[in-house]
Amino acid sequence: MKVEDAILKRRSVRSYKDKNISPDKLEKIMNAVRMAPSANNRQDWKFIVVKDEKKKNEVFEASKEQSQIKEAPVVIAGIATDSEKQMTCEVPGGIVDVTIALDHLSLIATEEGLGTCWIGAFYQDKVKKALEVPEEHKVVSMMTLGYPKKSMEKREKNRKELSEVVSYNVF
Ligand SMILES: Cc1cc2nc3c(=O)[nH]c(=O)nc-3n(C[C@H](O)[C@H](O)[C@H](O)COP(=O)(O)O)c2cc1C
Repeated sequence: MKVEDAILKRRSVRSYKDKNISPDKLEKIMNAVRMAPSANNRQDWKFIVVKDEKKKNEVFEASKEQSQIKEAPVVIAGIATDSEKQMTCEVPGGIVDVTIALDHLSLIATEEGLGTCWIGAFYQDKVKKALEVPEEHKVVSMMTLGYPKKSMEKREKNRKELSEVVSYNVF
């Protein structure tokens, strides 16, 4: 699949089939995550693949009980192990890095016939406790992963017009 096709096909998937992801497929996906770029190639990150039902339920409860977390066979938590370090541009590099890596995840998952949904609506302290993440780290975002119940392409992409979000040379 072309990258462009994966970008255009991807939708947030909030309903999943009761079907597991093979270990080979999961490894391929997590390897794409590992290959993401990072500021100064620091790779100050960790990705927790949550498959265990009990753990997944704790994450579900810590994320406003969003049903896609329960339905998906896998939830991945992206952790910045240094969320404070600022780049020269005064933006925390670790947060940007983990976000890029999770976007890699969403695109390769699409190529592999899988669906994802970003999960940002969660309580930091509760997810950290459930997944035993050290206090000094930051859970940047999570992502559900599984086989979509419905075809992704069918839903319209609701986006601002190009002219509204892109300008040339100045703001
Ligand atoms: C950082 C981030 C956090 C998000 N958090 C949630 C979430 O907690 N629950 C949810 O259902 N969708 C969440 N989304 C999905 C967005 O609602 C979705 O990407 C947006 O509506 C565009 O739809 P699309 O992904 O189908 O193109 C999140 C997306 C991003 C990028």
